[in-house]
Amino acid sequence: MSAIAPEVNVYVGPGEIGQSLRQDVASGLQNTPKRLKPKWFYDDRGSRLFDEITRLPEYYLTRREREILYSESAAIARLTCADTLVELGSGTSEKTLLILDAINQRGTLQRYVPFDVSEATLRTAADEIAERYPGVGIHAVVGDFSRHLEHIPKGGRRLVAFLGNTIGNLHPGERLEFLRTVRSTLTEGDWLLLGTDLAKDKERLEAAYDDAAGVTAEFNLNILSVLSRELDANFDLEGFDHVARYDERQEWIEVLLRSRYEQTVDICALGLNVHFAAGETMQTEISAKFRRETVERELGGAGFAMEHWWTDSRGDFALSLSRPR
Ligand code: SAH
Ligand code: AVI
Repeated sequence: MSAIAPEVNVYVGPGEIGQSLRQDVASGLQNTPKRLKPKWFYDDRGSRLFDEITRLPEYYLTRREREILYSESAAIARLTCADTLVELGSGTSEKTLLILDAINQRGTLQRYVPFDVSEATLRTAADEIAERYPGVGIHAVVGDFSRHLEHIPKGGRRLVAFLGNTIGNLHPGERLEFLRTVRSTLTEGDWLLLGTDLAKDKERLEAAYDDAAGVTAEFNLNILSVLSRELDANFDLEGFDHVARYDERQEWIEVLLRSRYEQTVDICALGLNVHFAAGETMQTEISAKFRRETVERELGGAGFAMEHWWTDSRGDFALSLSRPR
């Protein structure tokens, strides 16, 4: 059987990206404290750097989640009877192959819907998966999962996967809204597979987000290159330090850029001159860490019933499987 060419629907083309980047940067850099949204990390270089992060010795998340998928993908395929796998924030879709293989082995795999804001990474992954599963329809969506979930194709028995703790990059209010929107797009017979990183000691967490090789620092600083390129800004990457610190009260890692000295950055496309005091920090990401009770409660609050919970052998990471109530 020959591969079916992927269908790609683009909801965040260059014009749209420009507009929402302008809005986010204008409001985020005029806010006190300053902040940027993590979705702007993922241009081609940022996606490649994230891929490198997943192989770092300190960044345990990907390995632990893959361990769970190795042991539970067959059960996930059997419990859900899915014929369609939708994956939000799919990136390179690397771990996803384990789920796709398991569904394929049951003979039910009809469609894969990777959904990501990073178009080049998504297209590469979609092409590779089309080659690997001839006869399976690939319907890729280039979109923002906080805005375009209504474009998830309907029909079939759908398993929606949101892996890698990407949900942890949303603030609590955004998480609830996101889960409610996912819930509203699902119907009876559909399922949600959610990957969540679990709360653990501060040292391990901070090392995972501040690796010795400096890849996470490069990833974080890359957001400034994105702004300089897209908004005609003059950020000096030497002028900022990468900072990752665990907030034990909020149970999240906060990723920041700290200005090394007092400076003013010109963002010409917005007509903005942004002042940074020496030592001033700007938040680029949070990565929340979870407990079983909080995951179950948040899913419950969004209209899901959590039916299965699996962790890796060290209890670092969890996958939960839920269905609409
Ligand atoms: N699921 C993969 C990749 C995680 S990295 C894994 O578990 O390893 C996070 C991914 O989400 C990136 O591919 C990024 O481009 C995508 N992403 C981040 N914010 C997004 C948004 N608002 N809408 C859609 N995709 C987003
Ligand atoms: C994509 N996301 C779940 C990663 C995380 O662990 O929060 C992004 C990341 N940021 C720094 N390292 C990895």
